[in-house]
Amino acid sequence: MALQRFLARLGSAAGLALLISGALPAAPVLAQGVTYSGDVLPILQLRCLECHQPGGEGYEKSGLDLRTYEGLMKGTKFGAIVVPGDAFTSNFIAMVDGRVAPPIRMPHNRNKLTHCEVDIFRRWVNQGARNN
Ligand code: HEC
Repeated sequence: MALQRFLARLGSAAGLALLISGALPAAPVLAQGVTYSGDVLPILQLRCLECHQPGGEGYEKSGLDLRTYEGLMKGTKFGAIVVPGDAFTSNFIAMVDGRVAPPIRMPHNRNKLTHCEVDIFRRWVNQGARNN
């Protein structure tokens, strides 16, 4: 159809940008695998590290250090927050997904993550929470 020819002419990079921007259903992009280094870590750095590294209030209170894969998998001083393969029972996801009481929703006192960001986390956990 005309739209596909248009996209083909734009080239895959521009087509991908269109998909991501929401101009088209995002399913083809979301169906792909997500990686820790390429997808998860950049969000953690942007939205969580402010508090979740030594000296930050989140780290000081919970012990959760989000600078590295090892830190994320180690979790808080109370235990792991990621259950590989099971986003629903992972505290990591519950905390950013609005499934916990507002006072402990993450990021603490900051804007909620977008659905897209939460979805990347969820997908990564369900795909095994690998250090990829
Ligand atoms: C503005 C500071 C701040 C930001 C930003 C922040 N946190 Fe936190 N986080 C905290 C504080 C403070 C606690 C301790 C909460 C408590 O125990 O009262 C905490 C605790 C946690 C816990 C442990 C909760 C528990 O008790 O089991 C998780 C998981 C968590 N944060 C995840 C995240 C994630 C993921 C992000 C980024 C999306 C994030 N946080 C961003 C401040 C922050």
